[in-house]
Amino acid sequence: MRTTPSLGFGLGLRTAHVETILRTRPSVDWFEIISDNYINAHDGHVAMLEDIRADYPLVMHGVSLSIGSTDPLNLEYIAALATLAARIDAAFVSDHLCYTGVQGAFTHDLLPIPYTQEALAHVVPRVHKLQEMLQRPFVFENASTYLEFDGATLSEPEFLSELCAQTGCKLLLDVNNVVVSSFNHGWDIKTYLDAIPAEHVVQYHLAGHSDLGTHKIDTHDQTVSDEVWQWFRYTHATKGARSTMVEWDENIPEFEVLHAELNLARECVA
Ligand SMILES: [Fe+2]
Repeated sequence: MRTTPSLGFGLGLRTAHVETILRTRPSVDWFEIISDNYINAHDGHVAMLEDIRADYPLVMHGVSLSIGSTDPLNLEYIAALATLAARIDAAFVSDHLCYTGVQGAFTHDLLPIPYTQEALAHVVPRVHKLQEMLQRPFVFENASTYLEFDGATLSEPEFLSELCAQTGCKLLLDVNNVVVSSFNHGWDIKTYLDAIPAEHVVQYHLAGHSDLGTHKIDTHDQTVSDEVWQWFRYTHATKGARSTMVEWDENIPEFEVLHAELNLARECVA
């Protein structure tokens, strides 16, 4: 199995910015693509990625793996991920610890799974199969959640840590998602972050969210909040430097605005 390199400071690659990136080759250390937009895509679309790959490492981040579902793993989808990862020499491949549907339905949502030993025993062999097909450690992100299960016996960090220990998978620690979920569930952010073993973490995500007073929503439609910057600084200080990127998926601004946000991330931990 190959190891996962630390790449520096990256951005989510969005269609609106591709032309600017190809023309100006900005000072970004790497880009993260949404895997689902490129698997089984027409050749010109993937060739564009190869053009960007000539100057920047690429990371694949998906939203359809549904590792927590009770449906069988989608082996065609995983095979397509493997093909794309080989073609663009992806530095690593990630998705979320969640499920996106059951009984063949696809909700387009990242739904929470119960943090129980039973769920862990269900997910572990699926991760083994996934990693066997991809021939590399897979990277799982903590998703933003809006409900918890009464029957949960493990905290989210305990579940993620156990999953890593039993499968060798890695973690994409989304600091914004920790802030969002912690607010929604009354978790203590420092306790959460301290419970994530640094050795499993290969990447950090940063993003903006919406604060509705009674709850926070992971909207990726604005700048990173002061609170998330504060906890990113804490995470960086306690766990060390990791490949770090800023996500922005709604109300996507001019590239310069996104690039300025990335420079803030650099300065935050300089
Ligand atoms: Fe994220």
